[in-house]
Amino acid sequence: MEKILVLDFGGQYNQLIARRVRDQRVYAEIKPCWKISPEEIRAAGYKGIIFTGGPNSVYDPASPHYDPAVMELGIPILGICYGDQLLTWMGGGEVSPAAQAGEYGKTELTVEDHPLFKGVPRTSVCWMSHRDYISKPPVGFRTLAATAHCPCAAMGDDSRKLYGVQFHPEVTHSEYGSAMLHNFLFEICGCSGEWSMENYAERAVEALREKLAGKTVLLALSGGVDSSVAALLLHRAVGERLTCVFVDHGLLRKGEAKLVEDTFHPLFGDKLICVDASERFLSALAGVTEPERKRKIIGEAFIRVFEAEAKKLGHVNALAQGTIYPDVIESGKGDSAVIKSHHNVGGLPDVIDFDELVEPLRELFKDEVRRLGETLGLPHELVWRQPFPGPGLAVRILGEITADKLSRLREADAIFREEIAAGHPNPMPDQYFAVLTDARSVGVIGDGRAYGDTVALRAVSTDDFMTAAWTRLPYEVLERASSRITNEVPGVTRVVYDISSKPPATVEWE
Ligand code: XMP
Repeated sequence: MEKILVLDFGGQYNQLIARRVRDQRVYAEIKPCWKISPEEIRAAGYKGIIFTGGPNSVYDPASPHYDPAVMELGIPILGICYGDQLLTWMGGGEVSPAAQAGEYGKTELTVEDHPLFKGVPRTSVCWMSHRDYISKPPVGFRTLAATAHCPCAAMGDDSRKLYGVQFHPEVTHSEYGSAMLHNFLFEICGCSGEWSMENYAERAVEALREKLAGKTVLLALSGGVDSSVAALLLHRAVGERLTCVFVDHGLLRKGEAKLVEDTFHPLFGDKLICVDASERFLSALAGVTEPERKRKIIGEAFIRVFEAEAKKLGHVNALAQGTIYPDVIESGKGDSAVIKSHHNVGGLPDVIDFDELVEPLRELFKDEVRRLGETLGLPHELVWRQPFPGPGLAVRILGEITADKLSRLREADAIFREEIAAGHPNPMPDQYFAVLTDARSVGVIGDGRAYGDTVALRAVSTDDFMTAAWTRLPYEVLERASSRITNEVPGVTRVVYDISSKPPATVEWE
C-alpha cells in the first residue's frame, strides 16, 4: 500500500497533516522523530516524507534533530515550518532569528513557476507562524516562494526531490495549501491516490484473516462505534471464531442495550454473549456518592464480569480492542494530570488468558472509523452514536444511584434526545444529555406544593472533547424538552440548562 510518513518534530498540527494527506486518498502515518531511523524509513517503503513543524529553534540544543542521511534516501521530503528550517540546518544552509517578533497569521505569498505550485496563482494567502527564518537555503536548493518578511518562504532541490515551506499548507487559512499538498503527493512523490474505505476494508479483512488463521478471538463489545466497527471487521475475517461479550451494566441510556443486541444478534448468533449485570453493578454502587469511587467501582466490576465470561470460554488466542489512531500516537507529550479516571476496556489484558492483542482500528481516525462502519453496513444510529462514557448514567446522577433514579433519568434523557432530533438545531451539538442533579427545589403541581428534583440539560459543541463550548440551542427546543420532562418524568419540578464551557467545567458532571 502506498503510504506517506509524517515525521513528527512536536508540531501541534501533526494529526492535521496526516488528515490532509488522507483526504487526498493517500495513507499517512505519524511517527515521532526519535522512533524511526532512516534505515527503517527506507525499509518501510514510504513514497514520501513530511517533516512537521515544531515549537523549537534548530539552534536550541534541546530541539529535536534528525540524521541527515534521510536526505540521501531518494525519498521525496517536504519540510513544513520547523521541518523546513531543519532541512536547511541539516543541509548546511542558514536559519536566523527574525529581526522583529516573527511572522504570524495570514500573509501574502508569491510563488515561482514550479510543480509544487501547479494550479496555484502567483500570489495567494498563506498561514505563517514562525520566529526563525531561512536566510540562506542549503547548497543545491533554490528559493521557490517569498513573502514580504520571508525572502525564502519555500525552497527546493529538484534533483533530490527535497522541499521546504515556511508556511503551513495543512491549515485551511492557507488558500492553496491543499493544492500544494496534492502537488507534493502526486506530482513529486508519484502517488496514485488508491486509499479508500472500501479497499481499506478489504485489505484489513484480508490481513486479519492471515494473522488470525485458526485462532479464536474475544472482543468486549460496548456498543460504542469503535468496538462495533472492530466487531464487524473481525467477524468478516474470522467468522465463528469471534466471540463478543456485551456487558449491560444497567447504566445505559434508554433503548441502547436492545439496539446493540438487535444489531449484532442476527450476525453473531450465540457468539454474542449479552450479560445483564445490572443488579451486580447497582448493588456495588449502593450508597456510594463520591464520583471517583463510582468510576472505580464500575471499572472494577466491569472487568470482573468480563473476566468471568471469558473464563467460561477457556483459553482464547487473541483479545481484540477497538483502539483508534489518536489513542496510539505517541507524540512525546508530558503526562497530564488525572482529572477523571476514564473507564475503557483498555484495562482488560491483565486479567484475561490470551496470547496476543489485536487492534484492527489502530490506523484510523474517528471519522474514518465511522466511514468504515458505514462501508461495513453498521446501522446509522450506531455509526453516529455520540460519545457515551464507560460508567454511563452513573456519572450523570449526582449522589447515590438507585434503580428509580436511573429509570427517571433515562426518561428525561430520551425526551431531550427526541426534542433535539425533532428540532434539527443548527449547529447540531456534538454531545447532549440530561443529568439528574441532587438539588431539590420547591415547585407547584396541580394546586399543591411539591418538593422535587432538578434535571440539568447539557449540550456541547466541540472538535476534540478536550475543550468544549455550550451549544446555543434554540429556545423552542429547550422549552419543549423542559415542559415534557416536568410533565412526563415523575418527581421532576425544575429543568435547568447548563451554560458552562470546558474548561473550567467538564462535559460530564462527575
Ligand atoms: P469530560 O467529562 O472529561 O468528558 O469533559 C470528555 C468526553 O469523554 C467522555 N467521557 C468518558 N468516556 N470513559 C469514556 O469512554 C469515561 O470514563 C468517560 N468519562 C467521560 C465524555 O462523555 C465526553 O465525551
